[in-house]
Amino acid sequence: MQECEFKILENKMIAKEVFLMKLDGDCSEFTAPGQFCEIKIPGKYLRRPISVCDVSENTLTLIYKVLGEGTEELSCMEEGEYLSILTGLGNGYSVEDAPKNPVLCGGGVGVPPLYYLCKKLVEAGKHPYVALGFRSKEDVFFEEEFRTLGVPVNVATEDGSHGQKGFVTALLGNHNYAMVCGPEPMLRAVHEKVEGGQFSFEERMGCGFGACMGCSRKMKSGMKRICKDGPVFAWEEIEW
Ligand SMILES: Cc1cc2nc3c(=O)[nH]c(=O)nc-3n(C[C@H](O)[C@H](O)[C@H](O)COP(=O)(O)OP(=O)(O)OC[C@H]3O[C@@H](n4cnc5c(N)ncnc54)[C@H](O)[C@@H]3O)c2cc1C
Ligand code: FES
Repeated sequence: MQECEFKILENKMIAKEVFLMKLDGDCSEFTAPGQFCEIKIPGKYLRRPISVCDVSENTLTLIYKVLGEGTEELSCMEEGEYLSILTGLGNGYSVEDAPKNPVLCGGGVGVPPLYYLCKKLVEAGKHPYVALGFRSKEDVFFEEEFRTLGVPVNVATEDGSHGQKGFVTALLGNHNYAMVCGPEPMLRAVHEKVEGGQFSFEERMGCGFGACMGCSRKMKSGMKRICKDGPVFAWEEIEW
Protein backbone atom coordinates (compact mmCIF):
# COMPACT_ATOMS: atom_id res chain seq x y z
CA MET A 1 0.00 0.00 0.00
CA GLN A 2 1.18 3.53 -0.64
CA GLU A 3 -0.22 7.03 -0.72
CA CYS A 4 0.29 8.88 -4.00
CA GLU A 5 -0.79 12.05 -5.71
CA PHE A 6 -2.73 11.39 -8.89
CA LYS A 7 -3.53 13.95 -11.58
CA ILE A 8 -7.00 13.75 -13.13
CA LEU A 9 -6.74 13.17 -16.90
CA GLU A 10 -10.45 12.72 -17.59
CA ASN A 11 -13.71 12.69 -15.61
CA LYS A 12 -16.81 12.05 -17.72
CA MET A 13 -20.33 10.69 -17.33
CA ILE A 14 -20.78 7.31 -19.08
CA ALA A 15 -24.24 6.28 -17.78
CA LYS A 16 -26.89 7.63 -15.43
CA GLU A 17 -24.98 9.06 -12.43
CA VAL A 18 -21.97 6.92 -13.38
CA PHE A 19 -18.60 8.53 -14.13
CA LEU A 20 -15.34 7.26 -15.58
CA MET A 21 -12.21 8.89 -14.17
CA LYS A 22 -8.71 8.44 -15.61
CA LEU A 23 -5.78 9.44 -13.45
CA ASP A 24 -2.06 9.73 -13.90
CA GLY A 25 0.20 8.52 -11.07
CA ASP A 26 2.26 5.67 -9.65
CA CYS A 27 0.20 2.46 -10.01
CA SER A 28 3.01 0.07 -9.07
CA GLU A 29 1.26 -1.17 -5.89
CA PHE A 30 -1.63 -2.70 -7.82
CA THR A 31 -0.75 -6.35 -8.34
CA ALA A 32 -4.06 -8.16 -8.97
CA PRO A 33 -7.43 -7.44 -10.57
CA GLY A 34 -10.18 -6.77 -8.04
CA GLN A 35 -8.03 -4.59 -5.81
CA PHE A 36 -9.24 -1.13 -4.85
CA CYS A 37 -7.98 2.30 -3.90
CA GLU A 38 -9.06 4.81 -1.25
CA ILE A 39 -9.56 8.37 -2.45
CA LYS A 40 -9.19 11.39 -0.20
CA ILE A 41 -11.98 13.71 -1.22
CA PRO A 42 -11.48 17.35 -0.28
CA GLY A 43 -13.58 18.15 2.82
CA LYS A 44 -14.24 14.49 3.75
CA TYR A 45 -12.52 12.84 6.70
CA LEU A 46 -12.88 9.22 5.55
CA ARG A 47 -11.44 8.17 2.23
CA ARG A 48 -13.83 6.54 -0.27
CA PRO A 49 -13.05 3.03 -1.62
CA ILE A 50 -13.33 2.55 -5.40
CA SER A 51 -12.31 -0.57 -7.36
CA VAL A 52 -9.69 -0.56 -10.07
CA CYS A 53 -11.43 -0.79 -13.45
CA ASP A 54 -8.20 -0.74 -15.43
CA VAL A 55 -4.59 0.00 -14.68
CA SER A 56 -1.28 0.35 -16.45
CA GLU A 57 2.06 1.57 -15.14
CA ASN A 58 0.93 5.18 -14.74
CA THR A 59 -2.74 5.28 -15.62
CA LEU A 60 -5.55 4.31 -13.29
CA THR A 61 -9.13 4.04 -14.54
CA LEU A 62 -12.00 4.13 -12.07
CA ILE A 63 -15.76 4.01 -12.58
CA TYR A 64 -17.95 5.37 -9.81
CA LYS A 65 -21.60 6.06 -9.20
CA VAL A 66 -22.69 9.28 -7.53
CA LEU A 67 -24.40 8.15 -4.31
CA GLY A 68 -23.68 10.72 -1.63
CA GLU A 69 -21.64 13.85 -0.94
CA GLY A 70 -18.22 12.29 -1.54
CA THR A 71 -18.91 10.89 -4.98
CA GLU A 72 -20.90 14.05 -5.87
CA GLU A 73 -17.80 16.10 -5.04
CA LEU A 74 -15.66 13.71 -7.10
CA SER A 75 -17.95 14.10 -10.12
CA CYS A 76 -17.37 17.88 -10.07
CA MET A 77 -13.58 17.60 -10.21
CA GLU A 78 -11.85 18.58 -13.41
CA GLU A 79 -8.96 17.53 -15.60
CA GLY A 80 -5.66 18.80 -14.16
CA GLU A 81 -6.77 18.66 -10.51
CA TYR A 82 -4.99 16.33 -8.06
CA LEU A 83 -6.25 13.62 -5.66
CA SER A 84 -4.44 11.82 -2.85
CA ILE A 85 -5.03 8.09 -3.26
CA LEU A 86 -4.04 4.99 -1.26
CA THR A 87 -3.16 2.36 -3.84
CA GLY A 88 -2.81 -1.42 -3.88
CA LEU A 89 -5.54 -2.25 -1.34
CA GLY A 90 -7.19 -5.65 -0.91
CA ASN A 91 -6.32 -9.13 -2.11
CA GLY A 92 -8.00 -9.17 -5.54
CA TYR A 93 -9.04 -12.11 -7.72
CA SER A 94 -6.70 -15.00 -8.44
CA VAL A 95 -6.34 -15.50 -12.19
CA GLU A 96 -4.36 -18.72 -11.58
CA ASP A 97 -7.18 -20.29 -9.55
CA ALA A 98 -9.76 -19.61 -12.26
CA PRO A 99 -10.70 -22.48 -14.59
CA LYS A 100 -10.44 -22.10 -18.38
CA ASN A 101 -14.03 -20.88 -18.82
CA PRO A 102 -15.24 -18.88 -15.80
CA VAL A 103 -18.31 -16.67 -15.93
CA LEU A 104 -17.68 -13.07 -14.87
CA CYS A 105 -20.84 -11.83 -13.27
CA GLY A 106 -21.28 -8.15 -12.40
CA GLY A 107 -24.12 -6.00 -11.19
CA GLY A 108 -24.22 -2.18 -11.42
CA VAL A 109 -21.06 -0.60 -10.01
CA GLY A 110 -19.79 -4.12 -9.36
CA VAL A 111 -19.01 -4.29 -13.08
CA PRO A 112 -15.80 -2.12 -13.17
CA PRO A 113 -13.33 -4.52 -11.47
CA LEU A 114 -14.43 -7.30 -13.80
CA TYR A 115 -13.06 -5.38 -16.78
CA TYR A 116 -9.43 -5.57 -15.61
CA LEU A 117 -10.05 -9.13 -14.44
CA CYS A 118 -11.34 -10.04 -17.91
CA LYS A 119 -8.24 -8.50 -19.52
CA LYS A 120 -5.97 -10.52 -17.25
CA LEU A 121 -7.87 -13.79 -17.83
CA VAL A 122 -7.67 -13.31 -21.61
CA GLU A 123 -3.94 -12.52 -21.32
CA ALA A 124 -3.54 -15.79 -19.38
CA GLY A 125 -5.15 -17.72 -22.26
CA LYS A 126 -8.53 -18.25 -20.53
CA HIS A 127 -11.96 -17.82 -22.10
CA PRO A 128 -14.29 -15.96 -19.77
CA TYR A 129 -17.95 -15.35 -20.53
CA VAL A 130 -19.32 -12.05 -19.22
CA ALA A 131 -22.79 -11.58 -17.73
CA LEU A 132 -23.74 -8.05 -16.69
CA GLY A 133 -26.83 -6.88 -14.85
CA PHE A 134 -28.25 -3.37 -14.53
CA ARG A 135 -31.54 -1.80 -13.49
CA SER A 136 -32.36 -0.17 -16.80
CA LYS A 137 -30.94 0.78 -20.22
CA GLU A 138 -29.73 4.19 -18.96
CA ASP A 139 -27.58 2.45 -16.32
CA VAL A 140 -25.72 0.18 -18.76
CA PHE A 141 -22.02 0.82 -19.33
CA PHE A 142 -18.94 -1.01 -20.66
CA GLU A 143 -20.86 -3.64 -22.65
CA GLU A 144 -18.87 -2.82 -25.81
CA GLU A 145 -15.58 -2.42 -23.92
CA PHE A 146 -15.88 -6.03 -22.75
CA ARG A 147 -16.74 -7.15 -26.30
CA THR A 148 -13.58 -5.50 -27.62
CA LEU A 149 -11.62 -7.87 -25.36
CA GLY A 150 -12.96 -10.63 -27.62
CA VAL A 151 -15.24 -12.33 -25.10
CA PRO A 152 -18.95 -13.20 -25.27
CA VAL A 153 -21.08 -10.71 -23.32
CA ASN A 154 -24.73 -10.84 -22.24
CA VAL A 155 -26.66 -8.12 -20.47
CA ALA A 156 -29.80 -8.27 -18.36
CA THR A 157 -31.86 -5.31 -17.19
CA GLU A 158 -34.48 -5.56 -14.49
CA ASP A 159 -37.07 -3.66 -16.56
CA GLY A 160 -36.16 -5.36 -19.86
CA SER A 161 -35.25 -2.04 -21.57
CA HIS A 162 -31.93 -3.51 -22.77
CA GLY A 163 -30.80 -7.11 -23.20
CA GLN A 164 -32.69 -9.85 -21.42
CA LYS A 165 -35.38 -8.89 -18.90
CA GLY A 166 -34.65 -9.93 -15.34
CA PHE A 167 -31.70 -10.52 -13.07
CA VAL A 168 -28.14 -11.32 -14.09
CA THR A 169 -28.46 -14.76 -12.48
CA ALA A 170 -30.66 -15.76 -15.43
CA LEU A 171 -27.60 -15.39 -17.70
CA LEU A 172 -25.39 -17.88 -15.88
CA GLY A 173 -26.42 -20.86 -18.02
CA ASN A 174 -24.57 -24.04 -17.09
CA HIS A 175 -21.50 -22.26 -15.76
CA ASN A 176 -20.58 -23.48 -12.32
CA TYR A 177 -17.53 -21.29 -11.56
CA ALA A 178 -18.26 -17.58 -11.19
CA MET A 179 -16.09 -14.52 -10.54
CA VAL A 180 -18.52 -12.02 -9.13
CA CYS A 181 -18.86 -8.42 -7.97
CA GLY A 182 -22.07 -6.62 -7.10
CA PRO A 183 -24.59 -5.99 -4.36
CA GLU A 184 -24.83 -8.64 -1.65
CA PRO A 185 -28.25 -10.06 -2.67
CA MET A 186 -26.77 -10.68 -6.12
CA LEU A 187 -23.65 -12.32 -4.67
CA ARG A 188 -25.85 -14.61 -2.63
CA ALA A 189 -28.09 -15.54 -5.56
CA VAL A 190 -25.06 -16.39 -7.71
CA HIS A 191 -23.40 -18.24 -4.83
CA GLU A 192 -26.44 -20.52 -4.58
CA LYS A 193 -26.38 -21.31 -8.31
CA VAL A 194 -22.72 -22.24 -8.75
CA GLU A 195 -20.31 -24.72 -7.20
CA GLY A 196 -17.18 -22.62 -7.02
CA GLY A 197 -15.80 -19.17 -7.65
CA GLN A 198 -14.48 -15.91 -6.25
CA PHE A 199 -16.82 -13.28 -4.83
CA SER A 200 -15.98 -9.63 -4.16
CA PHE A 201 -17.77 -8.06 -1.16
CA GLU A 202 -18.53 -4.44 -0.31
CA GLU A 203 -18.75 -3.03 3.18
CA ARG A 204 -18.70 0.48 4.60
CA MET A 205 -15.06 1.17 5.38
CA GLY A 206 -13.09 3.14 7.91
CA CYS A 207 -9.35 2.88 7.32
CA GLY A 208 -9.44 0.61 4.25
CA PHE A 209 -6.18 -1.18 5.11
CA GLY A 210 -6.92 -3.54 7.99
CA ALA A 211 -6.35 -1.38 11.06
CA CYS A 212 -9.82 -0.45 12.41
CA MET A 213 -11.80 -3.72 12.04
CA GLY A 214 -14.73 -1.57 10.88
CA CYS A 215 -15.38 -3.74 7.85
CA SER A 216 -15.38 -7.15 9.59
CA ARG A 217 -17.75 -9.84 8.37
CA LYS A 218 -18.31 -13.42 9.45
CA MET A 219 -16.94 -16.03 7.07
CA LYS A 220 -16.66 -19.80 7.59
CA SER A 221 -13.19 -19.57 9.14
CA GLY A 222 -14.09 -16.66 11.46
CA MET A 223 -14.33 -12.86 11.30
CA LYS A 224 -12.61 -11.40 8.23
CA ARG A 225 -11.81 -7.83 7.25
CA ILE A 226 -13.31 -7.09 3.86
CA CYS A 227 -10.61 -4.50 3.12
CA LYS A 228 -7.55 -6.56 4.00
CA ASP A 229 -8.51 -10.28 3.94
CA GLY A 230 -10.83 -9.52 0.99
CA PRO A 231 -12.65 -7.99 -0.74
CA VAL A 232 -12.51 -11.25 -2.72
CA PHE A 233 -13.40 -14.52 -0.98
CA ALA A 234 -13.54 -18.06 -2.32
CA TRP A 235 -16.96 -19.69 -2.73
CA GLU A 236 -16.11 -22.29 -0.04
CA GLU A 237 -15.27 -19.59 2.54
CA ILE A 238 -18.54 -17.65 2.33
CA GLU A 239 -21.24 -17.85 5.00
CA TRP A 240 -24.57 -15.99 4.66
C1 LIG B 1 -13.95 -2.46 -1.82
C2 LIG B 1 -14.97 -1.49 -2.37
C3 LIG B 1 -14.94 -1.18 -3.73
C4 LIG B 1 -15.87 -0.28 -4.25
N1 LIG B 1 -15.81 0.00 -5.58
C5 LIG B 1 -16.69 0.86 -6.12
C6 LIG B 1 -16.61 1.18 -7.52
O1 LIG B 1 -15.76 0.67 -8.28
N2 LIG B 1 -17.51 2.07 -8.00
C7 LIG B 1 -18.47 2.65 -7.19
O2 LIG B 1 -19.27 3.43 -7.68
N3 LIG B 1 -18.55 2.37 -5.88
C8 LIG B 1 -17.68 1.49 -5.33
N4 LIG B 1 -17.75 1.24 -3.97
C9 LIG B 1 -18.76 1.93 -3.15
C10 LIG B 1 -18.27 3.35 -2.83
O3 LIG B 1 -17.17 3.26 -1.97
C11 LIG B 1 -19.37 4.18 -2.18
O4 LIG B 1 -20.43 4.33 -3.09
C12 LIG B 1 -18.85 5.56 -1.81
O5 LIG B 1 -17.91 5.46 -0.77
C13 LIG B 1 -19.98 6.46 -1.38
O6 LIG B 1 -19.41 7.68 -0.95
P1 LIG B 1 -20.29 9.00 -0.84
O7 LIG B 1 -19.54 9.98 0.00
O8 LIG B 1 -20.73 9.47 -2.17
O9 LIG B 1 -21.59 8.50 -0.12
P2 LIG B 1 -21.91 8.47 1.43
O10 LIG B 1 -22.48 9.80 1.79
O11 LIG B 1 -20.78 7.93 2.20
O12 LIG B 1 -23.07 7.39 1.37
C14 LIG B 1 -24.19 7.56 0.50
C15 LIG B 1 -25.00 6.30 0.47
O13 LIG B 1 -24.22 5.20 -0.04
C16 LIG B 1 -24.15 4.14 0.88
N5 LIG B 1 -22.78 3.59 0.86
C17 LIG B 1 -21.64 4.24 1.13
N6 LIG B 1 -20.58 3.41 1.05
C18 LIG B 1 -21.07 2.20 0.75
C19 LIG B 1 -20.48 0.92 0.54
N7 LIG B 1 -19.17 0.70 0.66
N8 LIG B 1 -21.30 -0.09 0.25
C20 LIG B 1 -22.61 0.10 0.14
N9 LIG B 1 -23.23 1.27 0.32
C21 LIG B 1 -22.47 2.30 0.62
C22 LIG B 1 -24.47 4.78 2.21
O14 LIG B 1 -25.04 3.86 3.12
C23 LIG B 1 -25.46 5.86 1.84
O15 LIG B 1 -26.76 5.34 1.69
C24 LIG B 1 -16.84 0.33 -3.41
C25 LIG B 1 -16.86 0.03 -2.05
C26 LIG B 1 -15.95 -0.88 -1.54
C27 LIG B 1 -15.99 -1.20 -0.09
S1 FES C 1 -11.88 -0.62 7.00
FE1 FES C 1 -10.51 -0.64 8.71
S2 FES C 1 -10.11 -2.76 8.92
FE2 FES C 1 -11.27 -2.68 7.09
